[in-house]
Amino acid sequence: MDAQQRPAAPATVPAPGTAPAPVSVSVIGLGNLGQALAGAFLAAGHPTTVWNRTAAKADALVARGAVRADSPAEAVASAELVVVAVLDQDSARDLLVSAAPALPGRTVVNLTTATPGPARELAAVVEEYGADYLVGAVYAVPRTIGTDDAFVLYSGTEAAYGKFRPALEPLGAGTFVGADPGLASVHDVAILSGMYGLFSGFFQAMALARTEGIKAVDLTGHLNRWLTGVQAALPEFAAEIDAGAYETETSSLEMNASGLRNILTATESQGLGTELIAPLQRLFEDQVAQGHGRHSLARAVESLTKEGPESRS
Ligand SMILES: NC(=O)c1ccc[n+]([C@@H]2O[C@H](COP(=O)([O-])OP(=O)(O)OC[C@H]3O[C@@H](n4cnc5c(N)ncnc54)[C@H](OP(=O)(O)O)[C@@H]3O)[C@@H](O)[C@H]2O)c1
Repeated sequence: MDAQQRPAAPATVPAPGTAPAPVSVSVIGLGNLGQALAGAFLAAGHPTTVWNRTAAKADALVARGAVRADSPAEAVASAELVVVAVLDQDSARDLLVSAAPALPGRTVVNLTTATPGPARELAAVVEEYGADYLVGAVYAVPRTIGTDDAFVLYSGTEAAYGKFRPALEPLGAGTFVGADPGLASVHDVAILSGMYGLFSGFFQAMALARTEGIKAVDLTGHLNRWLTGVQAALPEFAAEIDAGAYETETSSLEMNASGLRNILTATESQGLGTELIAPLQRLFEDQVAQGHGRHSLARAVESLTKEGPESRS
């Protein structure tokens, strides 16, 4: 069938208290994530069409009831809700542009990882072709898609999110973070920065422990226990950062700068590199040098920001 002539089944609004009505879904991109997404839609009872550059990756899904599309345009034409999960934004853009004639009236949800600028650019391109557009940042690995551990942040066309939210829920709990399509990507970059900061501390800890023959698995038990408590302090730091008010009686910059200096000294004396922790020390020292030593260590964020807290409302 000509892809452009194929009608998409309409989404219907479920009655309160009933299971979401089936929505026709296409998944474009069947890598590790896309396969899990398509599997979750199938498991939830949504008629699911799939397309992948390497066609054989669709075989197992087709065996479970998915319909194979022969092109991205056919996949777009086959469904009201089009989910894209490919390697990068350039690939997503090429695929969606190749399907442009089929885009009017569709809702595209692009779960491909992006940075905010390209996310906004692709949103404008897709909307220009007549489709609603949502950017999604997925917090899951393929095996946790559809479990309580998975969540997805969406930004873009709010009405489209409202309409398709029930159909998207089987992927993971969704939250809409704003109409600017770049916002999901901004959240993603920020949240993953936090994750990589955690990893850098973890690598430093493991390298240090190993110099004295302490097993990584043994130290990690203690580390996780301590981090659980530390994590509980983050909302308090966040409130200080939002308010630009850093008075504290708990954990001053001066005290933390001194603590980190000790760690740097110990790290060097164990013959290890300090490249992961020295930059944080520089932020603390910078704030202390500016006279903020008795303020909360959350104030270190101001040394990463060009304008000071006073300039922000
Ligand atoms: N995996 C995760 O845990 C996870 C979690 C959150 C977000 N994400 C994001 O989701 C996206 C997909 O991740 P993944 O884990 O599924 O990656 P993956 O397993 O490496 O799969 C990449 C997919 O992109 C397709 N692709 C690559 N270049 C293409 C091109 N030029 N044209 C058409 N298709 C192309 C591949 O097709 P072929 O099969 O033909 O190579 C494959 O379907 C990425 O942006 C990733 O950052 C992944």
